Amino acid sequence: MDPLIDNNRVVSGMRPTGRLHLGHYYGVLRNWVQLQHEYECFFFVADWHALTTHYEEPEIVGQTVWDMVIDWLAAGVNPGTARMFIQSRVPEHAELHVLLSMITPLGWLERVPSFKDQQEELRDRDLLTYGFLGYPVLQAADVLVYRAGRVPVGEDQVPHLEIAREMARRFNYLYGREPQFEDKATTAIAKMGKKNAKLYRQLRRRYQEQGDAEALAEGRALLEGQQNITLADRERLYGYLEGQNRIILPEPQALLTGAPRVPGLDGRKMSKSYNNTIGLREDPDTLEQRMRTMPTDPARVRRSDPGDPDKCPVWELHKMFSDAATQAWAEEGCRTAGIGCLDCKRPVIDAVQAELTPLRERAADYERDPDLVRNIIAEGCEAARDVARDTLEEVREVMGLSYR
Ligand code: TRP
Ligand code: SF4
Repeated sequence: MDPLIDNNRVVSGMRPTGRLHLGHYYGVLRNWVQLQHEYECFFFVADWHALTTHYEEPEIVGQTVWDMVIDWLAAGVNPGTARMFIQSRVPEHAELHVLLSMITPLGWLERVPSFKDQQEELRDRDLLTYGFLGYPVLQAADVLVYRAGRVPVGEDQVPHLEIAREMARRFNYLYGREPQFEDKATTAIAKMGKKNAKLYRQLRRRYQEQGDAEALAEGRALLEGQQNITLADRERLYGYLEGQNRIILPEPQALLTGAPRVPGLDGRKMSKSYNNTIGLREDPDTLEQRMRTMPTDPARVRRSDPGDPDKCPVWELHKMFSDAATQAWAEEGCRTAGIGCLDCKRPVIDAVQAELTPLRERAADYERDPDLVRNIIAEGCEAARDVARDTLEEVREVMGLSYR
């Protein structure tokens, strides 16, 4: 485990660039809902990140922000447990971004795969901007400003998290050095009491002399449990355990989310750019209509033609939404022309409708009461700022910016 001051904190953001669909639900939101029971969660609308690619369409960002929050609530993110807020309402993200940018080698950014990939993919946009290049720096600031231990990420975000980790290491290396570090650490150790101090020294020796990773983990756990030491001392002792620097910004770890590939209405991956999505709050009639008319095995022209499920987008949905018996019924019925395509779609349509019903109902409560949503966000912003302010105070201090 990493030297986490707030081991238990999770941060994640989502860019408001369009309405959410079932791909987001299975890929991200269900995971968030799970995490909120296990961690202290900070979920935010990454509106500045949206502008790095959508700076020419500010109206999209403006419209999507509140819808996105309602979608989160509809999916079951609980405002009593998780903090929800908007990135641009916590200006500390921007301040840390600017400060981190001072110590970010250009090479790190040019090497991030999404920098080139996205430019290829979004060829209609001019992404040769300073803001887009700095995307990973802003993302690192998002995470480090909360000193979060964990970041739930899909495969595509791993390089971004890696940069955040490198950034934390570089920051601690540059600014965690202090005169008389060893003396200060020794004084801090004494504050833990005789027994704990002895244990800490033993664990440190075991790690430093034998590279014993378990000793390192135990040492960190020991520090986490200390009530009598200040934050600065704790940072020293995390750092002293491993080396010669204070740890001001702990390295976050990836919480890899094994998200299923959600098939869209045309059999390809569900994605806004393919226009094959099922919206999280899509109304029942539209959904019914769109699914009734979605494509099937093109070789099955007449009802009497047998079909091949492997060539049919509906089958992909069966695999995701139907039980084994229904799947067997559909496969058999298709290959023998025993059922028609509309028959075959029926259980899938019903399953998707049933999946969305509770989401629509929860969303309706919030749609009727926009003030409630505004208040949830206002509270989330306040809570986030409290944490972010503390971090920035320290960051400013070690970077020589706290003038008295
Ligand atoms: N880049 C992320 C995405 O496109 C969104 C994001 C911004 C994020 N800041 C973050 C995710 C911080 C996790 C943590 O999905
Ligand atoms: Fe697709 Fe079902 Fe029609 Fe076969 S019967 S082509 S699986 S919709």
